[in-house]
Amino acid sequence: MFVDSLSSFIAADTSLSGIDGDAGDLIIRGISVEEIASSFSFTDLVHHFLQGVLIGLPAYADMKPAFGQARQAAFAVVGAIDDDLLTLPLTDALAGLLSRVPRGTPTETALNLIALPSVVVPALLRRRQGLMPLAPNPDADHATDILRMVSGAMPDPVQVAAFNTYLVTVCDHGLNASTFACRVVASTGAGAVAAVTAGLCALKGPLHGGAPGPVLDMLDAIGTPEEAAGWINATLARGERLMGFGHRVYRVRDPRANSLRHAVQRLAACGLIDNQRLALAEAVERAALDALRQHKPDRPLATNVEFYTALLLDALGFPRDAFTCVFAMGRVVGWIGHIGEQEAAHTLIRPQSRYIGPVPS
Ligand code: ACO
Repeated sequence: MFVDSLSSFIAADTSLSGIDGDAGDLIIRGISVEEIASSFSFTDLVHHFLQGVLIGLPAYADMKPAFGQARQAAFAVVGAIDDDLLTLPLTDALAGLLSRVPRGTPTETALNLIALPSVVVPALLRRRQGLMPLAPNPDADHATDILRMVSGAMPDPVQVAAFNTYLVTVCDHGLNASTFACRVVASTGAGAVAAVTAGLCALKGPLHGGAPGPVLDMLDAIGTPEEAAGWINATLARGERLMGFGHRVYRVRDPRANSLRHAVQRLAACGLIDNQRLALAEAVERAALDALRQHKPDRPLATNVEFYTALLLDALGFPRDAFTCVFAMGRVVGWIGHIGEQEAAHTLIRPQSRYIGPVPS
């Protein structure tokens, strides 16, 4: 039987995360994404997610120092950033640097891989501006350290909380395209570095992790709340998609969008986001949901995680072409977990294709 884009095909058993697309629920190793978003630090999350998956993972109390060391180890890679690399799209530059990750035991390599995007992306952003990269502080909280390495200043605690919420909220999401790519490569025995690189390359596309930059482009193009409905209807009439809406699995609002919306609202309450931008985004969301209901009455299309990601990362000062790499800072935790599960399964993922071309006469 031909399975269109594998949407209903179960390709793996996992104990890492589960999605109920009709109810709008996401469970991360037994805990709802709402609870993860509101009460887990990034290093708590790494421990929760990878215990039992990575052999020799540090104990809970040792996780923060171990992860601080991993950030320090990853900083060695920054020396490989040259002028040619700075001309590449950021995702491609990050993919090139992943191969330089310091290696040790499988668990040390895995933690270094998790830390690498968080250290290398701030360094790339600073080098692009002609600034020196800043070294990580191994004693700092992970989200705080990333924001400091980007801006050079200590971030506001509300910004740190919002960024931490983002990182833990996007850590894993079933067999999304990038995670599947990781599992396929891991199933060949190619190792975690190759598998994470494959995941990053899959994340890059606008139908997956490349959507939030275009969400901001859309807000810029719309300009004012009054223009929202007209712009959206014209876009749909041209047969184009609205970035930040729709999902392969969810038939209701993506629960991660709610967690990120709350984080954005907390930034707004503290004057840490442009209120005009937020008002525009809320008007665009309302107009888009109305228009999509009329455009596709039989296909529920709701707000996805990328819509509020765009507002959040913009408010935190990340340039829009860095959003996919920032997504990778969180999602790499999920990739490492799935790579571990796949390697333990010792099964090659090798589906078949159906030949529909000409046959020899
Ligand atoms: N805007 C307008 N129409 C849409 C949208 C959208 N955002 N999403 C789906 N549709 C339409 C499709 O054009 C299609 O119409 P058709 O039947 O006339 O061809 C119908 O709804 C069904 O769409 P599918 O392609 O079956 O939906 P699918 O599950 O394959 O797509 C996807 C999911 C790729 C996320 C899609 O909704 C989309 O392109 N959204 C915009 C990009 C985006 O926000 N990506 C981030 C996703 S979240 C993440 O990956 C982290």
